[in-house]
Amino acid sequence: MNRFSEFMLPPQKSTIAEGTDALFHFINITSVILLIGITIAIVYFSWKYRRRSDNDVTPVITHNSALEITWSVIPLILVMIVFGWGLNGYVNLSTAPDDAYEIRVVGKSWLWEFHYETGFVSVNELHVPADRPVKLVMSSDDVIHSFYIPDFRIKNDVLPNRYSTVWFEAMEPGESVIFCTEYCGMAHSNMMATTFVHTQEDFETWLITAGSADDNMDPVELGEQLVTRNACTTCHSSDGTVLQGPSYQGLFGSERVLESGETVIADENYIRESILEPNAKIVEGYQPVMPSYAGSLNDRQIDAIIEYIKTLE
Ligand code: CUA
Repeated sequence: MNRFSEFMLPPQKSTIAEGTDALFHFINITSVILLIGITIAIVYFSWKYRRRSDNDVTPVITHNSALEITWSVIPLILVMIVFGWGLNGYVNLSTAPDDAYEIRVVGKSWLWEFHYETGFVSVNELHVPADRPVKLVMSSDDVIHSFYIPDFRIKNDVLPNRYSTVWFEAMEPGESVIFCTEYCGMAHSNMMATTFVHTQEDFETWLITAGSADDNMDPVELGEQLVTRNACTTCHSSDGTVLQGPSYQGLFGSERVLESGETVIADENYIRESILEPNAKIVEGYQPVMPSYAGSLNDRQIDAIIEYIKTLE
């Protein structure tokens, strides 16, 4: 069964994965058995009761109580098993344990932000401790997204103007991919993130040091790292390729024609404003879809990104 499970499904990396998979296999195997049984019956009966001569007439059959009760009661029992089993799992998944470690998740087009108790915000990287329940309190800044970690068997919609939650307990340190599973626009398929599961000790260390690691870095190098880490590169290339947003190449100092018909020069102030208030100036031919980075990038980080863009001539 374990081999079969590994072949069919992603690895089971959370405490609830095994139970969820057991129900999946029960439904799957029951359906396959029924499919095979019914197919054999259809083929056999069509052969057995085939027309043998021209005056072959089917007898009039009004009903057969025993048969009708059988084909009603057996599916009812199967369905009730699936319902009870599924309800149990659903209730378990909906109620996080009281001691769960809480992390805020914000979905934006097209990235995931994770806010920790220290105030640190990571983009597209979810860091969690192993062997401890983690509760994610999620909301969206724009459209509906959906948060999915296949390895943990958790998935829930992420909505604007209201919170939804999921919880899980990762069993061992490692990495697992996070997908957005609600079609949310052009770069939906790039709205991916990674879960990093640490040992409890490593997690504590990570939480304390996160954010201060950049302090001594060269601005241009830091800027280059930041545009990747903050998922800017999902929509902005650095080689002139036009994605959902304008490329960084040749941006600095250039003249931008806006949707309004005005023109502006892309200087430091323009780039800073575009990071904090992306919809203030929309360049002609582009959609106003970029999320604001106010609150998730500090001044030093914005400076670094500007310095990096300056190098891309
Ligand atoms: Cu967010 Cu698809």
